[in-house]
This record gives sequence, structure tokens and C-alpha cells, in this order.
Amino acid sequence: MQKQLNIALPNGQYPIIIDSEKFDFSEFKSWLAGKKIMVVSNEVVAPLYLDELIQLFADNQVYHCLIGDGEIHKTKNSWLKILDALAEQQFNRSDVLVSLGGGIVCDITGFAAASWMRGMAFVQVPTTLLSQIDASVGGKTGINHPKGKNMIGAFHQPQAVIINAKTLRTLPTREFNAGIGEAIKYAGINQAWFYDWLVNHQQAIKQLDEAVLMELITHCCQFKTKIVEQDEKEQGIRALLNLGHTFGHAIETISDYHYLHGEAVALGMVMAAELSAQLGFCEPDIRKMLENLLQAFELPIMLDNQYAAEEILTLMKSDKKVINDQHRLILLKDMGQAFIAEGVKDAEILEAINSCMTQ
Ligand code: NAD
Ligand code: GLY
Repeated sequence: MQKQLNIALPNGQYPIIIDSEKFDFSEFKSWLAGKKIMVVSNEVVAPLYLDELIQLFADNQVYHCLIGDGEIHKTKNSWLKILDALAEQQFNRSDVLVSLGGGIVCDITGFAAASWMRGMAFVQVPTTLLSQIDASVGGKTGINHPKGKNMIGAFHQPQAVIINAKTLRTLPTREFNAGIGEAIKYAGINQAWFYDWLVNHQQAIKQLDEAVLMELITHCCQFKTKIVEQDEKEQGIRALLNLGHTFGHAIETISDYHYLHGEAVALGMVMAAELSAQLGFCEPDIRKMLENLLQAFELPIMLDNQYAAEEILTLMKSDKKVINDQHRLILLKDMGQAFIAEGVKDAEILEAINSCMTQ
């Protein structure tokens, strides 16, 4: 089974190929001819899929570079390791980087591609649900700084996104569920019907039903594509994709990445819904609706009270969306009606965080 989408941007377009069984590079054979390829992966994903991927590049000179697993390795050292490998093998701008892994590998590989010789081509091969429905699409690349999540990065679009949904069969359940957190985000932003779709298909999703997973990935890539096509560099509407993320990034940083990205986003969405209700933008039952669906996929809805709300607020102030010291948060008027709220006061944010903490 295969579906194909295209993402059209001012400087070109690229395909998102979603296959249920294979890494389908067939339409890139002539483009790849004569190029060197460096596959970037990590110690968990490489033993599972590196050989299968490399076999597809039998006519190329192929190298690989493995980085450490996990958010603690989304660092300048991992990025430099890739640049060193490119330098060692004398890669130039006409060669290709290929990511093979989750959102962390995708983001770092993309950033290495953006920065090597001021920009080289790369292809995203995402292997987690989260990276297949979000991180691999849209050209945001980057690494973390000790002071905060994704603080260093660039917009750099891939040449293609090649999704093989079969890879989800080896993904741990906790990681799979973290990806569902980002899927629920799309329902909150502007796809209210998708909330019901997720509720109605939850059993099939949990059983990794092939057709349902294909539909899930396709829907999410379509939603994201539509937003990125309107606003590639996040000057406006793309900010909506950050629903739950300003809280979420602070939670990831304060917890030293104890919470997975999708789990922190889940908590962030609950906080955003709580704050929206407190400010009178939406009904309190929006929080309850989100909580019900998040809980169905074993995602957290209450933050452990070992973390201080004031410190989360301080971290939120260093978020990329803060302008002139004013918070810019994504809040909800209803399920599927997210909007950018400016000038929300610290005390209001603190109240929302506190009401989403375990007692
Ligand atoms: P991840 O990259 O850490 O992958 C999760 C875990 O699963 C890792 O241990 C990984 O090695 C393992 N893994 C990956 N594929 C596997 C497979 N098929 N089978 C078994 N194990 C597998 O985490 P993630 O949730 O994929 O990505 C999170 C990152 O994505 C965060 O850093 C976040 O900031 C970033 N992100 C970026 C964007 C963007 O637009 N660029 C969007 C959303 C998230
Ligand atoms: N994940 C947010 C974005 O791509 O804009």
C-alpha cells in the first residue's frame, strides 16, 4: 500500500512517500546517480534498518554515521560528529545526507545538511510515529542548547520524505503513544473531526492496523503540509503547530528530558486548554476531552509536582515565540480552533500550570 503527497513551497516542492512495507527510493534513482550518500542513524535504529536501506544504494558510494540515542544527544557534539564524517569523506554540496531514525536523528541530520557548505541536499527517512507525522515534514532542523530545547537551528527543506510504516512494528509502545500526542495536537489546532476519528479508531491504531496507520500518517502529513505551504518560515499561521509546545519544551528542559517530547506536548496541551478556559476563551470540557483521549493512549495529563511552576514559567520566557518579553501562546477557542494569544500574564500562566500538577 502506498500514498504520496507533495509539499509545494516558494523554492520548490518535494514528495512525501508513505509506504506500508518498504523504503521506496525508486523515483530518486536518476537524481542519486553519481552522488555520495551519508546515512545518519543511531545505535538503536541502525541494527534494525540500516542494512535494508543501504542495499537500495548499491550503485552509490555509501557511508554511515551513528550518533547517540535520545534527547541528551541532540547536541552540538552529535552535529559536529556528522560534519566530521562529511569532511573525512570529502562530501560536497552535490552529495546527499539521509536520516534514518526518529525526530532527533531527523532534526540533527537536517541541521547538518543546512550547515555543511552552507547547505546540501538531504532526505528524511523517519522511523517513529512522531517523526513520520511531524518532525520529518516542513524543514525545521536543529539541536538543543543546554539552556533550552531546539534553540539552535535552521529552516532547510529535505529533497523528499520517505516513510516506511512497517518500522512502527519495532517501536516501543511508549514511543508510539508519544507520537499520538502530536496527532491529537492536529485535532486541537484545526481538525475537530480528527478528534472523533482518533476516538473511533483507537483500537485499530493500538493494534497497528496497516490501513488505519496509513490513513493516520497520511491525514497528519496533509494537515501539516497545508500549514507549512502557507507559512514556511513561521511568520504567522505555522505557530499554531506549536500548540502545547511552549509549556512542553519547558517541561522537557526542567525534567532533563524525563518526559518524551510527545508526552511533554500532551501535558502542554492540557495546560493550554486549562489556561484557555480560565481566560474565558473556551469551555472547561475541552480540557476534559483532551485528557480523555490522551489517557486512552497512556499519555500523562498531570505534571509531577517535583517541578516548580515558577521555573517552568522562567523557561517559557526563553521560548523562541516570546517577542518583546510578551508571551505568545497557542490557546483554544474550541476543539479544532487554536489561535495565537498575546500578552497573557505570568500569574495566569502560573495558575494554569499549578492546576495541572499532581497534589
Ligand atoms: P526519538 O528520535 O528519540 O525516537 C524515539 C526512540 O525510538 C529512540 O530511542 C529511537 O532510537 C527509537 N526508535 C526510532 N525508530 C525506531 C523503530 N522503528 N523501532 C524501534 N526503535 C526506534 O524521538 P521522536 O519522538 O521520534 O522525536 C522527538 C524529537 O523530534 C524531539 O527532539 C522534537 O523536538 C523533534 N520534533 C521536531 C519537529 C520538527 O518539525 N522538526 C516536530 C516535532 C518534533
Ligand atoms: N513542529 C512544529 C513545526 O513544524 O512548525
